[in-house]
Amino acid sequence: MTSLITTSTTSQSAIVASRPLPAALCAIAGLGHYLPDRIITNDELAQTVDTSDQWIMERTGISGRRCAAPEEATSDMAHRAALEAMADAGVTAEDLDLILLATSTPDTPVPSTACYLQARLGCGGVPAMDIAAGCSGFGFALQMAAASVKSGLHRTVLVVGADTLTRITNYADRQSCILFGDGAGAAVVAPTGRFDVIYSSIGSDGSGTGMIRVRAGGSRTPASLDSVATAGHTLELHGREVFKAAVLRMSDCIRKAASAIGVRPGDFDLVIPHQANARIIEAVGRQLDVPPERLLSDIRETGNTAAASIPIALGRADRASPLAPGKLVCIVGFGAGLAWACQVLLVRDR
Ligand code: ACO
Repeated sequence: MTSLITTSTTSQSAIVASRPLPAALCAIAGLGHYLPDRIITNDELAQTVDTSDQWIMERTGISGRRCAAPEEATSDMAHRAALEAMADAGVTAEDLDLILLATSTPDTPVPSTACYLQARLGCGGVPAMDIAAGCSGFGFALQMAAASVKSGLHRTVLVVGADTLTRITNYADRQSCILFGDGAGAAVVAPTGRFDVIYSSIGSDGSGTGMIRVRAGGSRTPASLDSVATAGHTLELHGREVFKAAVLRMSDCIRKAASAIGVRPGDFDLVIPHQANARIIEAVGRQLDVPPERLLSDIRETGNTAAASIPIALGRADRASPLAPGKLVCIVGFGAGLAWACQVLLVRDR
């Protein structure tokens, strides 16, 4: 596991004055997100697989998930989210000097989706690359952005998590098709801004590669008539095992983040886990004694949007009820790889 914890003991605000917090690695200066209009309801899924609205609501907390329009690809959604984040941060495409786009559903295998996004933004020459870390991809990209801003190598980094999971969902598999939706979330990362990033950590465990995967379409099993006939191009999931691993790993990440900055998990004003399943989020809260009102579950209308889930949830929460200066927010992702990422954000004045 990599950790980017600094050790300065400067207090950051009146509310957290009693807690000596680390200095900021960098900050999130602006947030944006995009969700397609079309909603796939539980009743619609129940017309094609043996399931029901009641089962899906009880087991996942999801009532609907968004679905991109046929002509809409990951970079199109990323573009919408990026424009919103840049406007929020008060920067233009000319100010960007790095673009990191986390996705498991690129527009095309080659070239990177980040390059399509860069072209749409009209900032040719700015380095742009994809990051593949499943549902924790936004946190991986945020850590890379934090490291490059902190080092002075880059000043204004666009970080995007975007996924069009409906394009790789097997709608004949009732266990997985109920979970996934499309969307994009973006953040502008800079030396200063509204959310100081005061802690960041990422990790992976390749022994879990079989737990969440797309079997075919890569160099191991290239796309073929057979791979398509056997749905090898769709996402396979060992639901029960992933459920347990997600709860254990995200709880561990939050515990370590709290300990590193000298607080308890219950001291976070808001914990935003990857929005994979409402029951996973509730179980994390129980493990750590984080009360439900401090644990964000924003999955009901969006479903699991993979790398986009955390920036969407953070952006929606902050828009619905702006987070007050001094609040501590812990974001934690978990997904295919297995891979996980955790950051602590300290809210600043606008
Ligand atoms: N409708 C009705 N019954 C169903 C459905 C459904 N949609 N899906 C499964 N079942 C059945 C099963 O067949 C099983 O029946 P059986 O007892 O006769 O065998 C029963 O319900 C219980 O199945 P479980 O798998 O134990 O159900 P569970 O409560 O674990 O819910 C789920 C399944 C929703 C997939 C859950 O395990 C889960 O959310 N797992 C984690 C998914 C996740 O975190 N993904 C994130 C990583 S992937 C990514 O983000 C891109």
